[in-house]
Amino acid sequence: MKNSCQIVAETLEMLRQMIRPGITTLALDRFAESHARKCKAEPAFKGYSGYPFSLCCSVNNQVVHGFPTNKELESGDILSIDFGVVLDGFYGDAAITVPIGAVGENAQRLLKITEEALYKGIEKATVEHNLSDISAAVQKHAEGSGFSVVREFVGHGIGRSLHESPQVPNFGKPGRGVKLKQGMVLAIEPMINEKGHAVKVLADGWTAVTLDGGLSAHFEHTVAITENGPVILTAL
Ligand code: MF3
Ligand code: CO
Repeated sequence: MKNSCQIVAETLEMLRQMIRPGITTLALDRFAESHARKCKAEPAFKGYSGYPFSLCCSVNNQVVHGFPTNKELESGDILSIDFGVVLDGFYGDAAITVPIGAVGENAQRLLKITEEALYKGIEKATVEHNLSDISAAVQKHAEGSGFSVVREFVGHGIGRSLHESPQVPNFGKPGRGVKLKQGMVLAIEPMINEKGHAVKVLADGWTAVTLDGGLSAHFEHTVAITENGPVILTAL
């Protein structure tokens, strides 16, 4: 899994460096797909349950699963990019949210808190903890900072399939759910909203947006639970 995850990490880092006002998310999608194929990997999302692209591109009030488009990104936007590949039968999955040009203070804070919440969750991905300790740690950091946690979408086990059990919610009481074990691999992926937690899916059947129009951020890593603690497979 390290190999597929490293391709995902490298692709996201290259995309981060391409992202600026004026670029389109369709250009990012094309780059991600061709870079994965150059590395002999397959984009994992294209065709998954009929998803039509390789990259998910969610702008501003879009939460997850936004479609790449030919609209140019503008200074002040925030963009979540979510990418997965499969290599030799093993999946990798990660996401980052990136500011475009100069973004507002609350947007900056939302990105910072969401990324921190991901790392708070990852800290709990050890054999001493239960699954919901991850969830509770993410929720505490997000809500403690005045933001809200999306309920309808969750993290997941990952391995020979993109989505395996268990589901990994970003909310809940600690001490519940399965006991974490060495060898489990989880995609931990907080989706955090600036205002209310409610979301709806647009008529395209995929794009999730905040109900109140507030901003939303998403960070994700694929994380292995080992005897030496969590190993972030999608860290470069
Ligand atoms: N990272 C997301 C997930 O784990 C992306 C899935 S997009 C899909 O669910 F198209 F593959 F569904
Ligand atoms: Co995922």
